[in-house]
Amino acid sequence: MKTTIAEVYKYVEQEVTIGAWLANKRSSGKIAFLQLRDGTGFIQGVVVKAEVEEEIFQLAKSITQETSVYVKGTVKKDERSPFGYELSVSGLSVIHSAVDYPITPKEHGTEFLMDHRHLWLRSKRQHAVMKIRNEVIRATYEFFNKEGFVKVDPPILTGSAPEGTTELFATKYFDEDAYLSQSGQLYMEAAAMALGKVFSFGPTFRAEKSKTRRHLIEFWMIEPEMAFYEFEDNLVVQENYVSFIVQSVLDNCGLELSVLGRDLEKLQRIKAPFPRVTYDEAIVFLHEKGFTDIQWGDDFGAPHETAIAEAHEMPVFITHWPTSLKPFYMQPDPNREDLVLCADLIAPEGYGEIIGGSERVHDYELLKKRVEEHKLESDAYKWYLELRQYGSVPHSGFGLGLERTVAWLSGVEHVRETIPFPRLLNRLYP
Ligand code: 4AD
Ligand code: MG
Repeated sequence: MKTTIAEVYKYVEQEVTIGAWLANKRSSGKIAFLQLRDGTGFIQGVVVKAEVEEEIFQLAKSITQETSVYVKGTVKKDERSPFGYELSVSGLSVIHSAVDYPITPKEHGTEFLMDHRHLWLRSKRQHAVMKIRNEVIRATYEFFNKEGFVKVDPPILTGSAPEGTTELFATKYFDEDAYLSQSGQLYMEAAAMALGKVFSFGPTFRAEKSKTRRHLIEFWMIEPEMAFYEFEDNLVVQENYVSFIVQSVLDNCGLELSVLGRDLEKLQRIKAPFPRVTYDEAIVFLHEKGFTDIQWGDDFGAPHETAIAEAHEMPVFITHWPTSLKPFYMQPDPNREDLVLCADLIAPEGYGEIIGGSERVHDYELLKKRVEEHKLESDAYKWYLELRQYGSVPHSGFGLGLERTVAWLSGVEHVRETIPFPRLLNRLYP
């Protein structure tokens, strides 16, 4: 029976054939242990000299790392294996021999691994992170479908710049100027007026000159937008959504989290509701903590965010930011004209901001004024303003950065490991 490693549990004490790669190997004069992987999982194949033809034992002893093989063997239950099964090998044939595979089980430097990202992806750790990424995406679709949202796909080539004009990737759209999307939000607002509750999932691009563990040039964002939702309603969606993906990863990625050595307790305690701290309160807190460098009106840096998150051991909403720090489309606080009705959600353990969101300006005149104040080219925003001319309603939405979220859930230090082929400052290869 031809099967995959993930499905061997169906064939205990039966003989199966698996197509696999050799991840690692140990052998003595009498026995060889083959660490096999096939993408669906990892399993150990045991080749006992006394039980197989001499030719097969010699082959098992000599095959090299990442050689592709067909392995035949009997599936055994094995309590010691993290996967629960082992293969008692009876046959082995090479499909293609790998010579001098560059990534050996020893330690390698980051730049070397990044240069070999196309191969590095095969490692157990990278495999685990990609599976967790997949689970977050799967759970996202489950959550929003369950909540009655419609998936809408905003364009990637656009004429507008929702998050400011300094970090745009400019390109040509035939004779016109165009940009790669920084955020699908403006289009999602139009979609919310048509479909009520919508969400998108797609790539976004920022020509940010930041070289930090939280910044990618190309990253993937989930952007929900809801008609008739006000500021507080928006936060409730966010905390329920984040709690749901954390729980889904705990439920469905136990093996991957253990490969990564993730501290599960830190994830198990993540449950809605999340604490809310206003920007004003955060400034006072930071001063008390000895951050004398920060003044009211300043944006927070990574150390500030981390200090706030550490005080809670939960994701924390920082709400009601100064208008001057935020994009043009945010609804003013009716009680304080220097603030906007927005929130950033800060992940625990130093992973920083995973969500940015707000209530949107729904008054035509105010939005027009904002577009002008921000010196945005009015033609590109004509259609966006028009949304406020025909039955405008309060609405809110947010954007969750997939890679930062996956980094937090996986417990990996840097976002470069959470996307298959990271685009970083000075890295467009492989
Ligand atoms: O806070 P941001 O810029 O918000 C927006 O783009 C809104 N238009 C979203 C919305 O309301 N629909 O980005 C949202 C999230 C951040 O919180 C962060 O998680 C992620 O996107 N993000 C990045 N992730 C990796 N690398 C970067 N350079 C990122 N910039 C933002
Ligand atoms: Mg933000």
